[in-house]
Amino acid sequence: MATDASRRLRLAVLASGRGSNMDSLLQKSREGLLDADVTLVVTDKPEAPCVQKARDAGVPAVVGLPPETGESRTAYDARLQEDLEAEAPDLIVLAGFMRILSPAFCDAFSGRILNIHPALLPSFKGAHGIRDTLRGGAKLAGCTTHLVTADLDDGPIVLQAALAVRPEDDEDALAARVLRLEHQLLPRTVQLFAEDRIRLEDGIARVAPGPSWKDHVETVEGAIYSEGF
Ligand code: GRF
Repeated sequence: MATDASRRLRLAVLASGRGSNMDSLLQKSREGLLDADVTLVVTDKPEAPCVQKARDAGVPAVVGLPPETGESRTAYDARLQEDLEAEAPDLIVLAGFMRILSPAFCDAFSGRILNIHPALLPSFKGAHGIRDTLRGGAKLAGCTTHLVTADLDDGPIVLQAALAVRPEDDEDALAARVLRLEHQLLPRTVQLFAEDRIRLEDGIARVAPGPSWKDHVETVEGAIYSEGF
């Protein structure tokens, strides 16, 4: 992505629920670690907690965009695209946005849509990353940031963080530990874009060397972070 290093990125966040990942972006931005600002939040669930959180944080534009009865995915995504284009974001961040995006939408913003997934991709794609990690008997859990393509949870992986599954873990306990990693990984990934350090080579995202966050954020005990953190 071509960005002027001296300019802060404009982020559009799409969220459907609790909004804790959106919050992690707002917080790191406030702390001065992130050279990016959330300028727009769009939700398909206007009653969701993420809406109030965005308002409380002073996000300039917070848009409720519930799907209309019987509306096709393509029609919804066209409305979403219009709202996004009006704000001209540098990056669109899916932070718990519980809709699958149409190929046309993914093409329109190709290379500029980022997702966070609560599992170590390419394993355990889909809506239940944590549950499927446990049911699959995996010994490592974690989270992944990746660029979004038309195939669900399948675009180029940017960063990953992993931790050991404990024998006593249930879905809630594991989700809580992974969420702490998510709150580090998502803003960190955005910062790599802000520093123009992500390059795609044959469909693989490479992270160029540069400053790290390792000395700036509290690392989660036992966690392993991929190159670029
Ligand atoms: C996170 O676990 C994220 O990985 C997944 O949806 C959840 C959203 O949580 N895509 P929150 O709304 O950011 O708290």
